[in-house]
Amino acid sequence: MTSERGGERPVTSGRGGDRPVTSERGGDPTTLPMRVPMGGLPDRVTIWEVGPRDGLQNEQAVVPVEVKAEFIARLADAGLTTIEATSFVHPKWVPQLADAEALMERLERRGGVRYPVLVPNERGLDRALAHGVTDIAVFASATESFARANLNRTVAESLDMFAPVVARARAAGLGVRGYLSMCFGDPWEGAVPVGQVVAVAGRLRDLGCTALSLGDTIGVGTPGHVAALLDALAAAGVPVGQVGVHFHDTYGQALSNTLAALQRGVTTVDASAGGLGGCPYAKSATGNLATEDLVWQLSGLGIDTGVDLPSLVATSRWMAGQLGRPSPSRTVQALAKE
Ligand code: HMG
Ligand code: MG
Repeated sequence: MTSERGGERPVTSGRGGDRPVTSERGGDPTTLPMRVPMGGLPDRVTIWEVGPRDGLQNEQAVVPVEVKAEFIARLADAGLTTIEATSFVHPKWVPQLADAEALMERLERRGGVRYPVLVPNERGLDRALAHGVTDIAVFASATESFARANLNRTVAESLDMFAPVVARARAAGLGVRGYLSMCFGDPWEGAVPVGQVVAVAGRLRDLGCTALSLGDTIGVGTPGHVAALLDALAAAGVPVGQVGVHFHDTYGQALSNTLAALQRGVTTVDASAGGLGGCPYAKSATGNLATEDLVWQLSGLGIDTGVDLPSLVATSRWMAGQLGRPSPSRTVQALAKE
């Protein structure tokens, strides 16, 4: 693997950059997608970039720390302002992220960019605090099977494990996100009742989480289900401004599900550059919604993300080169052919 930083481009608001501006028929492909807003959607969406964490945690290859640091720097160059950097979990459980300390030491922290990390327990919090982390995420499960597989705990035991983590992190002034996995179905248990998800979400809020992320860990959700869960959370008093969505794209539903969430007022969407991702402890979890595919859709809808698509695509193509395989993102593939 190499880590030369080639193809740098200034951040621009459109797709122009330095690519050719005329097609065979004389038009300008960089004006696409056409900007055609749709009613009832937010003006701006925050993309919570999870590629360096959710993406790389599931790679067979262990990516060198200098490549990870460069990946994160490039993502910030592309305009992403929330970049989930790594996890302070047990290194034997996720060897791909065993270099969390070394990565945090190398990180080029930019003004206006947040670098959250996953923290399961107080040991993880101690490690994160020792490295200047300002935002953490704990990660619960709506189902017992995944809590056991991912955290070696029941749902209740894992919430007990998070309680002092959230309390100490809040007292130290950190932002604390509460992930909730298996919100739309579980590979061991099948259907997951909406009420079960709402109950665990309520527990995470009671602990003091400042935001939630609803995980479709294995990508089985569909838009009506997304709307029903968001409606149930709203009815339980959870402000939609505190709810993010986290779709894996296993069944190709991630963008439709995102649109359903935006229609319900969600303004934070998790995505992974190039569509990297998965979860080592969930059967059939494939990559996250690709950030490029999300930016393409939001840009067409006239929704501001602050992300420069050509710069992001260049980053994902570079990362694909590092990993030795093409990006699964349709947008990365399509723009590479232009
Ligand atoms: P455990 O084996 O039950 O650990 O694992 P334990 O509490 O019994 O401790 C055993 C030993 O591990 C102790 O050492 C601890 O100090 C040490 P000893 O005293 O025996 O020498 N230890 C640690 N060392 C370093 N850092 C730590 C740490 N904690 C304990 N943080 C544990 C419990 C939670 C640690 C383990 O299950 C674990 O690390 N799980 C992480 C799994 C993971 O990272 N999964 C992927 C992230 S979740 C995800 O991807 C889903 C998401 O994307 C949303 C979605 O898609 O749905 C977020
Ligand atoms: Mg995930």
